[in-house]
Amino acid sequence: MPLYEDAVRPLLFRLDAERAHELTLRVSELSGRATIPRRVARRALRVQDPRLRTTLAGIPLENPLGLAAGFDKNGRAIGMLGAMGFGHVEIGSVSAWPSDGNPRPRLFRIPEDRGIVVAYGVPNEGAAAVRRRLDAHPSAVPLGVNLVKTNDPARPAVAPDVYEDYAASFAALQDRAHYVALNLSCPNSAADRDFFDELPRIDALLTRLAACGPRVPVFLKLKPTRDAGVLREIVAIADGHPFVAGFAINLPAGKPDDLRLTAPPATLARMPGAVGGKPVEEYVNAILATLHEIVGRDSRYALMAAGGVSSGADAYRKLQLGATVVQLYTGLVYRGPGVVRAVLTDLLALLERDGFESVADVVGA
Ligand SMILES: Cc1cc2nc3c(=O)[nH]c(=O)nc-3n(C[C@H](O)[C@H](O)[C@H](O)COP(=O)(O)O)c2cc1C
Repeated sequence: MPLYEDAVRPLLFRLDAERAHELTLRVSELSGRATIPRRVARRALRVQDPRLRTTLAGIPLENPLGLAAGFDKNGRAIGMLGAMGFGHVEIGSVSAWPSDGNPRPRLFRIPEDRGIVVAYGVPNEGAAAVRRRLDAHPSAVPLGVNLVKTNDPARPAVAPDVYEDYAASFAALQDRAHYVALNLSCPNSAADRDFFDELPRIDALLTRLAACGPRVPVFLKLKPTRDAGVLREIVAIADGHPFVAGFAINLPAGKPDDLRLTAPPATLARMPGAVGGKPVEEYVNAILATLHEIVGRDSRYALMAAGGVSSGADAYRKLQLGATVVQLYTGLVYRGPGVVRAVLTDLLALLERDGFESVADVVGA
């Protein structure tokens, strides 16, 4: 990835982080509409090997590496993102109603930590607009749609309105998704993020969604917690809802002490929001390991894990800790589109080194 890291990234990093994000999304959107750029990307970036194939809740995947939610919130660039070699792409978070998110600035880089600080507050065009776009441009790769409650002071987080909000976006979008992920705690929607701390509300939400007739597997993207008792309770709630296929772990809010941050406190103080990338890797991995222990091997639940993945070794570690699929976002910012090929190529080398025949054999090994 020298071309990206030496030539493109320095230019992008001169721009405000949100402008750089918008620019890369726009370039991906426009280039992804034409056949030739997609074909070129596929040739250059895709890694096809039967040992990488896996399944997620019955969905066949070409490989276990996906794009995490947040990069393409409105499903604008899935043509190009699919061509870049990801085994799946997760769009969103999408909410029932459009939202402007939080005031700017709301995206920052911490290059010394290979991290990003995000305070977007889930801006998105709303479920109806995203549905129209997916109708017009269906995804060529398995697509996850991540849903969240609308972030809008006029729609406070009270029951049952929150459940109705998720139900509206679920009904609008489930038929365009291979799976749906429910973002149960956006770290940057301060007024909403603790709503599901009262765990029976997760049960109430799932009961409401059951009434929508779920036709795709549903994943719960949880507020990170090291409290195994809480995780156990959430899994027990999910047990009562057969359409729940697994769990993912969101970013923690703010800058908890146990993140591996080296950036000076004064710098971080100017960056409100949650940290993605390398600093959260160990934090998420510890929760992943606990969750895997709780659900057990051969359970009906699959785990999806994101947090600091930018190499094959990082992805391999998450698979070993029990993830069926691994996702990344910040790694794309620091290493560019070639990160997909690099991760998958290294992953194959690690399979060979350790004598595994397929990535599925590594899960929880
Ligand atoms: C800029 C940014 C925006 C994000 N937006 C969302 C979002 O809308 N919904 C969501 O569930 N996760 C969101 N995430 C979290 C990512 O999906 C992922 O879980 C997290 O960033 C860890 O992966 P990473 O270290 O590879 O970035 C966002 C992360 C970043 C960095």
